[in-house]
Amino acid sequence: MINEKNIPSSQEETARQQSFIQLAKALTEQKMKTLGRPLTYCLTTFGCQMNEKQSEAVAGIMDEIGYVRQENEEADVVIYNTCTVRENANLKVYGRLGHLHSLKDKNPDMKIILFGCMMQEAHVVEKIKKTYSFVNLVFGTHNIFKFAELFYEMLLSDMQLIDIWEGTDQIVEDLPTERNYTFKSGVNIMFGCNNFCSYCIVPYVRGRERSRKPEAIIKEIKNLVADGVSEVMLLGQNVNSYGKTLETPVTFAQLLTMLEDIEGLRRIRFMTSHPKDLSDELIEVMAKSKKICHHLHLPLQSGSSRILKEMNRRYDKEKYLNLVENIRTAIPDISLTTDIIVGFPGETEEDFQETLDVVRQAGYDTAFTFIYSKRTGTPAAAKEDQVPEDVVKDRFNRLLTLVQEQGRIRSSRFEGTVQEVLVEEESKEKGIFTGRTQYNLLVHFPADESLLGTYVKVKLEECKGFYYLGSLSE
Ligand code: SAH
Ligand code: SF4
Ligand code: F3S
Repeated sequence: MINEKNIPSSQEETARQQSFIQLAKALTEQKMKTLGRPLTYCLTTFGCQMNEKQSEAVAGIMDEIGYVRQENEEADVVIYNTCTVRENANLKVYGRLGHLHSLKDKNPDMKIILFGCMMQEAHVVEKIKKTYSFVNLVFGTHNIFKFAELFYEMLLSDMQLIDIWEGTDQIVEDLPTERNYTFKSGVNIMFGCNNFCSYCIVPYVRGRERSRKPEAIIKEIKNLVADGVSEVMLLGQNVNSYGKTLETPVTFAQLLTMLEDIEGLRRIRFMTSHPKDLSDELIEVMAKSKKICHHLHLPLQSGSSRILKEMNRRYDKEKYLNLVENIRTAIPDISLTTDIIVGFPGETEEDFQETLDVVRQAGYDTAFTFIYSKRTGTPAAAKEDQVPEDVVKDRFNRLLTLVQEQGRIRSSRFEGTVQEVLVEEESKEKGIFTGRTQYNLLVHFPADESLLGTYVKVKLEECKGFYYLGSLSE
């Protein structure tokens, strides 16, 4: 069977990495003995949930090797998982590297590791080689599964180690991983992106779209459930095109139907849905499902059909609004959220008014608004008609005001109702816990630790904009 071709190679790779974990562990034990103290690491993640998930994998390996995680950057190993979706993500990393340099002056044994999306850009790597030669290890997004091997090599080397791959079709399964929460988890269902929206760097730094096999996803989720997880967030840049490139193609809606059957799994979420690929089949499956949360993140980016075309989004204002209408008809209590970019090159006041119009019509619970950021190498970066900064800022502020107004009205629709809430953490205020409804709305309410990770009924008493104050019901 052709299908089996990749399985042994993924298993072999997993075994190889396991052996590097053991080698690094032996070195680490030796070093701890000499020092007479534990070795520590600090790991910071920039960017999206995909990065969060991959950071958990790196943390899992660091834990196995024997390092103790800490929040403080005065650690033996400092690791940044980077993002480059907007320029300010890059600036943050450069800013913090300056600070790390001064820490390393105090502790020359300290190791600094950079990986993730930003490292897939040649100009970034050049800058690190030239200006930040104190960084010990640099790798990208395609070879994260090799972390144990790279880490071991780094421990043996005095040189700056750089390993960036152009791309990969490899998906290595079953490596150790840590989890930020015991009761909920992200699950990658695919990697990369083929959409090439004209402003976006992601397809260049994450490579081509690759879907995991349904069996691998099901196995991971079953293991998570056995381990106490009841809510999963399926992750992909465009989950609606899941499975198209598999040898035996499977649609996203079919995958969801398979996951619905997993006993003990209570809530299924997913991100992100590209409007151009959202099928009627998916809407139907969502409407019928007992587990899929009634929340859909449906990035709009712009309300102007002309700008959407320039963005290469492959839908227009009308198609988007139709889609919203169909979803609301099938799932009347759906909570919709979105992403919007302001100041795409050539955006006129008229175009911007179209965006405001869609925001008014679509009724978002929340909208994440971004100022367009020019990304080197993308088609939009080469456009000459970049919008002046003051014009963009003014539009951004007007959009934000509308989004907040709308959000407050939309979110308050649950005021006075009792909702099922997953208790996620204690808030900053002692004795007050934070939970999430299936609509992704946060609620703060008095409770105690024993309820963490469980589902409780909470009366949503007062809407505070994007969150509620409530109390346990029953
Ligand atoms: N795959 C997801 C988005 C991933 S990036 C999707 O297609 O919806 C998350 C968000 O960052 C995007 O939705 C977009 O709104 C924003 N974004 C991406 N590139 C950007 C850029 N160059 N400038 C400003 N915002 C950008
Ligand atoms: Fe970027 Fe578009 Fe891919 Fe989303 S779908 S990651 S915005 S190229
Ligand atoms: Fe950033 Fe990479 Fe995610 S660029 S948004 S971390 S895919």
